[in-house]
Amino acid sequence: MQISYDLNGALDRTLRETASRTDGFDEDFSPEIRPADLRFGDYQANGVLPFAKKHGLNPREMAERLMEALGEDESLDVDIAGPGFLNFRFTPAFRLAWMQKYSSIQDFRKAFQAGRKPFRVVVDFSSPNTAKQMHVGHIRSTIIGDVISRLFNFGGNEVTRDNHIGDWGTQFGILILAIKRSTINLDDLGEDGIAELEDLYREGNQLIGEDESLRKEARSELVKLQQGEKESLAIWEKVNAISSASFSKVYDRLGIRFDEILGESFYRDKVNAVYEGLTKHDICEESDGAMVVFHQEHKRFAKQPFIVRKSDGASNYATTDLATVCYRTDELGAEEIVYVTDGRQQDHFSQLFLTTEKWFAAEGKTVPRLRHVWFGTILGEDNKAIKTREGQPIKLLDLLDEAISRAKVIVRQKNPELDESEMEKRGRIIGLGAVRYADLSQDRTLDYVFSWDKLLALQGNTAPYLQYAVARIRSIFRKLEIEPGSGEEDASVLVTESENVLARKLIYFPSVLEQTAHELKPHHLCGYLYELATDFSSFYNADKVLVDESDIRARRSLLCARTLLIMETGLDLLGIETLAKM
Ligand code: ARG
Repeated sequence: MQISYDLNGALDRTLRETASRTDGFDEDFSPEIRPADLRFGDYQANGVLPFAKKHGLNPREMAERLMEALGEDESLDVDIAGPGFLNFRFTPAFRLAWMQKYSSIQDFRKAFQAGRKPFRVVVDFSSPNTAKQMHVGHIRSTIIGDVISRLFNFGGNEVTRDNHIGDWGTQFGILILAIKRSTINLDDLGEDGIAELEDLYREGNQLIGEDESLRKEARSELVKLQQGEKESLAIWEKVNAISSASFSKVYDRLGIRFDEILGESFYRDKVNAVYEGLTKHDICEESDGAMVVFHQEHKRFAKQPFIVRKSDGASNYATTDLATVCYRTDELGAEEIVYVTDGRQQDHFSQLFLTTEKWFAAEGKTVPRLRHVWFGTILGEDNKAIKTREGQPIKLLDLLDEAISRAKVIVRQKNPELDESEMEKRGRIIGLGAVRYADLSQDRTLDYVFSWDKLLALQGNTAPYLQYAVARIRSIFRKLEIEPGSGEEDASVLVTESENVLARKLIYFPSVLEQTAHELKPHHLCGYLYELATDFSSFYNADKVLVDESDIRARRSLLCARTLLIMETGLDLLGIETLAKM
């Protein structure tokens, strides 16, 4: 057996290849490699048992056959556990060689990209609606989308980050109605114009709630806008300019950038092609004057229509999204499109994807890979959707500012002597890192409770804890008076338990990246970095780095350097900055 250094699927490949020349196995066999419990080894192959059961074979015997066929390998010990699991444990010499081999971000990048063809991907994220301020709910799409873009980029793919702003929706009917009925002059609105627009929108909503004829009027305002009436367009443009200015503040604060900001309105002259295409290929039908699509093969969508044109002739969210898929495929060359929104839009995207598949197939076009990356709700400490004390949504900008000022208080307590600009810098890095990490460290499909105390804690699965681990390793190198990485070639083979436990954790990094990118779930990476920081801490408490024996010192400082490299690479993928001192 020969295990290659890049463990990304190396074990899986080796086992498949070995099985293919072992009696009783066939292509049906999948090794099912998983990280193993510390007691059993580094990795475990769980696939023999289900395979043997399915084919009426004795699992233990099959596992023995496979183990025999694998033969000896000096980097790995193999044994059989229970009814037919294979356990693999790397030797200390292999662990050392692995660490010496992966010595830069570039090495991890190469391993991550190995054997894969790069593709063009559009990540559709953040995408707030204009005329409203971004509130705390928008943080999830913005941050998760940013991290997903970073992961794709790390994989060597061509990524387009697209902010699909909601600037063409029903809110404009209501807002234009309210603006026309008010005495406000949009040109006089200052810096905080967005707040006034929000008030107007709220008033408009109240108005139409009480009066059927105003409801009609709002609808006709929207139609007028969609038909390009001058006065409506002028109002619309001003509203969008005010909105963009307020979004930019949030993006600047968070360090988020986009390659494209193509809002819904960008597609307004592209919706006719949607109607024509769907009609020509008999994909849509008429229902009460509206144009709808049913999917007979689907349990719910056979009856629940996907409305692509409203009965008043107006386009809607579905229409612009269909036009958008088309544009991204034809003009941007997208081979994959990822949409990051909350879980309530799952039906919309399922219907969008089904409709796109049929439409593109009828046109003989390749359908890009379409994925909806959805997330749950942020809850307040009362377990209800988070709100201000007055019951209003929390403004994202306020939340970020509060994170920074709370972090500064903590920094000041620890280091009262710091000058103001350093205090500011650390407060920003720790505060923003904490908010980001709180979001990313939860399985995105779950709701999570937002708690200042928890996310800023220096202990536990938090950004400050990880940032602190990084700063601590940096300080070790200051004490050693060497650069991380220097003298590594003098390292001797790992001996102690905690050296081996830490190295074992380091080796998991490529497979964690793999899993994170496969599921597009950043919490896998977060959980891993947290475990790594904990293992590092145990190692550092158990084994002295600054010892006289130069080979021991070299191998322990190698462990420090690799932990640092992986922590920094991982945090960078999460968009979290680190500090040399904390
Ligand atoms: N503007 C929408 C919202 O606030 C999200 C848009 C997501 N992207 C898309 N192509 N539908 O819910």
